[in-house]
Amino acid sequence: MQGQADDSLPPMGNAGATRSNDAADVLAIFGISGDLARKMTFRALYLLEERGKLDLPIVGVAIDEWDDEQLRKHAREAIGDTVGDPDEDVFGRLAKRLTYVQGDYEDRETFKRVKKAIGKARQPVFYLEIPPALFATVVEGLGEAGLTENAHVVIEKPFGHDLDSARELNDELRKVLREEQILRIDHYLGKEPVMDITYLRFANALLEPVWNREHVSRVQMTIAEDFGVADRGRFYDAVGAMRDVVQNHALQVLGIVGMEPPTGNHPDSVRDKKLEFFKAMCAADPKRYVRGQYEGYLDVEDVAAGSTTETYAAMELEVDNWRWAGVPFFVRAGKCMAVKSTEVTVFFKRPPRLGVGHGKTPEPNQLTIRIEPTPGARIRLYAKQAGKEAFQAADMEVLFEKVPGEDPEPYERLLGDAIAGEHQLFTRQSSIEETWRVVQPLLDEPGEVHPYEQGTWGPEEAEKLTRGTGQWAKPWLPED
Ligand code: BG6
Repeated sequence: MQGQADDSLPPMGNAGATRSNDAADVLAIFGISGDLARKMTFRALYLLEERGKLDLPIVGVAIDEWDDEQLRKHAREAIGDTVGDPDEDVFGRLAKRLTYVQGDYEDRETFKRVKKAIGKARQPVFYLEIPPALFATVVEGLGEAGLTENAHVVIEKPFGHDLDSARELNDELRKVLREEQILRIDHYLGKEPVMDITYLRFANALLEPVWNREHVSRVQMTIAEDFGVADRGRFYDAVGAMRDVVQNHALQVLGIVGMEPPTGNHPDSVRDKKLEFFKAMCAADPKRYVRGQYEGYLDVEDVAAGSTTETYAAMELEVDNWRWAGVPFFVRAGKCMAVKSTEVTVFFKRPPRLGVGHGKTPEPNQLTIRIEPTPGARIRLYAKQAGKEAFQAADMEVLFEKVPGEDPEPYERLLGDAIAGEHQLFTRQSSIEETWRVVQPLLDEPGEVHPYEQGTWGPEEAEKLTRGTGQWAKPWLPED
């Protein structure tokens, strides 16, 4: 957004904030040889190194029979693939930080080797990018090796696959760790445009008076991807759109759109308000839920024969509090959609019929927050059409990104925050449980899955969901 920086707003999780007493003195990454590390983690570490935000050793742990040199070689390849043309000096500095520990997570000896590798470090961050079934095993191993007293443990999503399993997983972790030591990742919270929503809402006093049931008629969120499941069939088939992006990413974003203003400047300011919002959300109604599966999904490698996993999910949610009672929140998320678009649109109430414009009723004003592509916000007002007695959309647009590539990327920000001891962008167990509670009835009673053609907006049944309130918003695309 344009304008002068105002440093009176609370800082919200800066990657690589000034080293505080809470900053880590070693980062140990379990699962360093895996897919996520190859696609995301090495790139994030490289970017942190490039910005001068890394000043600690990094220990990679995995089962592969590698040594330090092989880890560095693997890191260089991954960075070559994801960064393009990396600066060799930057990579050289990063490479010097890397050491490798080989081991099986079931074997106590592995953790003794980890302990040796991290040496005298007092405040480790352990990043677990491993299959969820191994989270508890690794945390137990770390605890037994005496490594957890001052540690923080970063846990990748999904955190559980329903309410019960999320509680069980948490119970296992809590045998060793305190709640504040567990940093649950939802990478959407590390996206700059998602953080922009809080600023947009509360830095502009003109929005707050109309941000409620008196003035808003409905809220819609879309997470549309114009590609399929690709090589992630095994992971995705066990998860589906609801668990993959709705319970976590979509609800976390809606939490920011719908929360009360955060007060006080502490790590829980925003998390507390989002939690209140989630608590006010009613358990979802299976009758207001539509699932779809794109044609061709069953041919994806590692997808079970006859799978009924949804690649599209659309639902209506309700928030029963003074701000939102009676305002439907519609969410849809899908793969193989017509375009890639992640956005939230707040629809305001229609004005009454007017004595101008041939007595017609203008369309409702809308405020759209676009997360993907090209982050920004648009307020749709209506004006007079030139030369005619008619209404015409008159949009006010702001683009959030000032300098492309300048904002930290989600994994870079979140890893940087974990290392710097900044924890406000990680999700707490309370909000994980509330969001599972909201979607649990849809997991219990998923209903049938409707096929849809690739490159469309999902099954027709989803159109019926919004009937009576208006249609799904046409996405705001950069070329519009
Ligand atoms: C991940 C999901 O969490 O989020 C993917 O597992 C999805 O299926 C991705 O594609 C979307 O995130 P982004 O940052 O690419 O919009």
